[in-house]
Amino acid sequence: MLKVAVIGAGIISCAHVEGYLRFPDRCKIVAVCDIFEQEAKRLIAQYKLKDAISCVDYKALIDMDIDLVSICTPTYTHAAIAAEMLRSGKHVLVEEPMAASLEECDAMITAAEESGKILSVVAQHRFRTPIMRLKSVLNSGMIGKVVHAQVDSLWWRGYCYYELWWRGAWEKEGGGSTLTHSSHHIDLLLWMMGKPLDVQAVMANTAHDNAEVEDLSITILRFPNGSLGQLTSSLVHHGEAQRMIFQGTEACIAEPWQVSATISKPNGLPERHPELEQRLNAYYESLPSLPYELHTGQIDDVLRAIEQGTRVLVDGESGKATMQLITAVYKSASLGTRVTLPLSADDPFYTRKGLLSNVLQFHRKQHTQPVPERSMKAKERSKTS
Ligand SMILES: NC(=O)c1ccc[n+]([C@@H]2O[C@H](COP(=O)([O-])OP(=O)(O)OC[C@H]3O[C@@H](n4cnc5c(N)ncnc54)[C@H](O)[C@@H]3O)[C@@H](O)[C@H]2O)c1
Repeated sequence: MLKVAVIGAGIISCAHVEGYLRFPDRCKIVAVCDIFEQEAKRLIAQYKLKDAISCVDYKALIDMDIDLVSICTPTYTHAAIAAEMLRSGKHVLVEEPMAASLEECDAMITAAEESGKILSVVAQHRFRTPIMRLKSVLNSGMIGKVVHAQVDSLWWRGYCYYELWWRGAWEKEGGGSTLTHSSHHIDLLLWMMGKPLDVQAVMANTAHDNAEVEDLSITILRFPNGSLGQLTSSLVHHGEAQRMIFQGTEACIAEPWQVSATISKPNGLPERHPELEQRLNAYYESLPSLPYELHTGQIDDVLRAIEQGTRVLVDGESGKATMQLITAVYKSASLGTRVTLPLSADDPFYTRKGLLSNVLQFHRKQHTQPVPERSMKAKERSKTS
């Protein structure tokens, strides 16, 4: 029976607790930690965690008999907590984004290597049946070489979304749409396509002048085999029509699941290839459904890795790869250059301090009440027009 602690008792901690509670024969939660102890106590009461104690300082867990720690605190705290937990002999499942900088990701990976403990970074969307099936179809080679990958990570957030004191500040939130909303799509893109050679990005803040960060970025990626990718990360797209499209030499597949295959007429013009479309659909439908999805699926994976000595699906290197791409987007868009991956330790964007002093700042975060602010601006505009 593995003993688990949860650090950070906020919104996402519920997904972790619910995941652990699905495996009562394999693990039990023995501690919940939050700087606000009432939050830890509330979580314990909400889920009737009868074996769990509460505490306010995660360092209190160091000498406790604990096998696995879920870190569900704000991103800028992940690195220090993860390193200390790993070095005190505990396996770690840390929320995404992995950390606030590449330097911090490396410190976490080093702590995992030196302690010999497991570090897994949350990427719960890999543990969804449609995504696992899409990945299997890609791996099967049935669509041929992937020549183009398109990721539309499209979201919509109103102006007041950035009213919250910490949102939209580079120092506190670490980034805009690319980091906070597209990190899952970026993880999936890298998982499906591998790491790109380089990226060229532009970003803007088009509709949220109460945020320092971007609400729109467009990135072109070049992969080692000559394929191209495009990633749009947005908080300004009505309808939030998110999708991933992989164009192979033989056929195209997409998530949400869609297939289209074409063959050439004698004159080179396209003709539908229904037989291949049928085969792809049949293969997709034949693939098994996952027994556990999202956070529960990833927790199952981490528990199995501890119990059986297997590798986790999403390790520290995977979490860092996502941060590498996001940091490269910020560097490329801020400096107006193409950026080659990976960014090295002497890159100005490698540290949190370096990123903060080099990244594009769109607006100063100063509005606490956006509605009066906006109407004031509208009045000013009407005076000058
Ligand atoms: N996987 C996902 O889809 C997903 C979704 C939401 C949030 N997240 C990530 O989860 C993390 C937490 O986000 P959230 O929305 O739950 O935030 P939250 O603010 O609701 O919860 C964080 C909790 O951590 C506590 N905390 C802060 N510093 C602490 C410390 N040093 N020690 C102990 N407790 C501390 C806070 O008091 C708070 O209760 C972030 O990294 C976020 O990016 C991931």
